[in-house]
Amino acid sequence: MHITPAASALPDYAMLTRQVDSILEGERDLTANASQFSAFIYDTIADLNWAGFYLSRPARQGDGQELLVGPFQGKVACARIPFGRGVCGAAAAERRTLLVPDVHAFPGHIACDSASNAEIVIPLIKDGAVLGVFDIDSPTLNRFSEQDRAGLEALVAAFLRATDFS
Ligand code: SME
Repeated sequence: MHITPAASALPDYAMLTRQVDSILEGERDLTANASQFSAFIYDTIADLNWAGFYLSRPARQGDGQELLVGPFQGKVACARIPFGRGVCGAAAAERRTLLVPDVHAFPGHIACDSASNAEIVIPLIKDGAVLGVFDIDSPTLNRFSEQDRAGLEALVAAFLRATDFS
C-alpha cells in the first residue's frame, strides 16, 4: 500500500524544542513538567485530539508493570493499560516509538476516543528504564510522517532531560 505524506505542514521542531527547554527551565517536578509539556504539544502541533502521558506503575494484578494515565490534554481516556496492550502498551514493551497511520488496522488498539484515526507513541526511557510513554492521537489518517517522528522524539528527549521522575 502506498502511503501519502501527511497533509499538515511540518512544524519547526528545532524551534519548538528550544521553546520546551525554555518553558521547563528551572522546574524539574514530574507533574508540573508533564502538564506543561502536554499543553504545549496540544497547542502547537496541528490536528490533534489527544496528547499526554501514561506513566509506568507496578501492575495491580500479577507481576510486571502497567501504564497509568498522567497529565494530558483531550477527552477522558482509559486509566490503566497493561504493558504489551494497545499501541501504548506495545511501545512500552518494545521500547520503541510506534507510528500508526491507521489505528483501526493496529491489532489490539484501544479506542479511547472514537475520533482518533492515527497515533504516535514515544516511550520515555531514562537510564535504561521505561518510565512511561507519551501518546499523541489525531483524527486524520496518516497524520504523522517520519519527520514528525524525529521531531516529536526530540521534543520528548527535551522533556526527559528537564524532568526528575523520583
Ligand atoms: N489508543 C491508545 C490508548 C490510549 S488513548 O489513545 C488516549 C492505545 O491503543 O494504546
